[in-house]
Amino acid sequence: MSIPLHQLRAGVIGTGFIGPVHIEALKRLGVQVTAICGSTKSARACADQWGIPEVYGDYDYRAMFASPNVDVVHITSPNKVHVEQSLAALAAGKHVVCEKPLGMTAKETARVVAVVKRRGAPVFAVNYMCRFFPAVLQMRALVQRGELGQIIHVQGHFFQDWLLHATDYNWRLLASEGGQLRAVGDIGTHWIDAVSFILGTRAEAVFAHLETFHKTRYRPRGEVRTFAKVVPKTMLPYRVDTEDFGSVLLKFGRAKHGYVNGTHANAAISQVAAGWKCSLALGIYGTKGSVRWDLQQPNEIHVGRRDEPNQVLQRATAGFSEDVAGYTDYPGGHPEGFPDSHKMHYRAVYQHIASGRKTPVLFATAADGHHEVKLCEAILKSSRAKRWVRA
Ligand SMILES: NC(=O)c1ccc[n+]([C@@H]2O[C@H](COP(=O)([O-])OP(=O)(O)OC[C@H]3O[C@@H](n4cnc5c(N)ncnc54)[C@H](O)[C@@H]3O)[C@@H](O)[C@H]2O)c1
Repeated sequence: MSIPLHQLRAGVIGTGFIGPVHIEALKRLGVQVTAICGSTKSARACADQWGIPEVYGDYDYRAMFASPNVDVVHITSPNKVHVEQSLAALAAGKHVVCEKPLGMTAKETARVVAVVKRRGAPVFAVNYMCRFFPAVLQMRALVQRGELGQIIHVQGHFFQDWLLHATDYNWRLLASEGGQLRAVGDIGTHWIDAVSFILGTRAEAVFAHLETFHKTRYRPRGEVRTFAKVVPKTMLPYRVDTEDFGSVLLKFGRAKHGYVNGTHANAAISQVAAGWKCSLALGIYGTKGSVRWDLQQPNEIHVGRRDEPNQVLQRATAGFSEDVAGYTDYPGGHPEGFPDSHKMHYRAVYQHIASGRKTPVLFATAADGHHEVKLCEAILKSSRAKRWVRA
């Protein structure tokens, strides 16, 4: 029997850009947020803002995991501590929602997969929440019901411009902090995960070309919160060891539903594309029709036909099928977007926990997160060797 979501209690690690996005979404779902962990000052401020009773400063996540008042841990800290914090949370018997990427290397993320596979292990999700935009679920339904026919190819991009200037700084720019791949690891994996989810199968091989436009950048002393603007006169130069943009070809495997087999995809990924703020755009092209979507216009999809008129289908109207209806809360014409995709994702994870794992697993698992890290390693290898590499 399912328990109400408000009986589940969350503890959040990290108080930067994305931590409060998790907190807000959980509060909108009626989940209790009982604990926060971060730097002593920011954890206190976050607790005061959101009314969170238990505060764990000095990044002392182990103290938070010892709390009997936390059922689910949300890991929203920088990438380099995801695996260590995930393993400790699982060892403490906590369910986990871990931010992407799951870790820095496939060697370390394999450790999480091994623990999650054990009988009785807690539920583990990686926050590839783009799966939970109703538009993405609708595109998945179109593909998997054969309404687009055999899928021929997939094309798209993920473009941002917040790292366009040499003076833009964030820990992600340093391979030691964010991982060897930056644009592809940070946002490209959202694109690849969304396409894998829609197609119903994973990418198996890649051919990539990566480029670093700003070989030298300038950083302030101390840390900068994601998307924050800083004053250039306090800057120090440093050599950049991560890519600004990349072009990636992907070969997908065979899907059980029979409409995808060896499908080819190409994606352009950039964090230096002036004017684009957060454009995850993709088009799926089949023998009977195509479908296109851009996260910057999240409420509609464009369906293309050769011999019939094209259509623009809108969320929460007749063009979106019944099975997508459970992932949207507001009527048509009342836009839902980025914060709602987080809410729908956490609802799916918490319902899975509350139902004793009876609901379908649409969310990205530890194995999915691990595969994304393996793909990143294959992409880096391919770019250096200039050949196809299997993941
Ligand atoms: N799913 C998404 O759409 C999405 C969007 C943004 C970020 N992210 C992911 O979320 C994570 C955080 O990104 P952000 O943009 O919020 O970064 P950020 O720099 O704005 O915030 C990071 C937070 O983690 C804290 N922190 C640093 N070291 C820590 C430690 N050892 N233990 C606990 N907390 C620590 C920092 O004090 C800060 O509060 C990254 O892994 C990133 O890839 C995901």
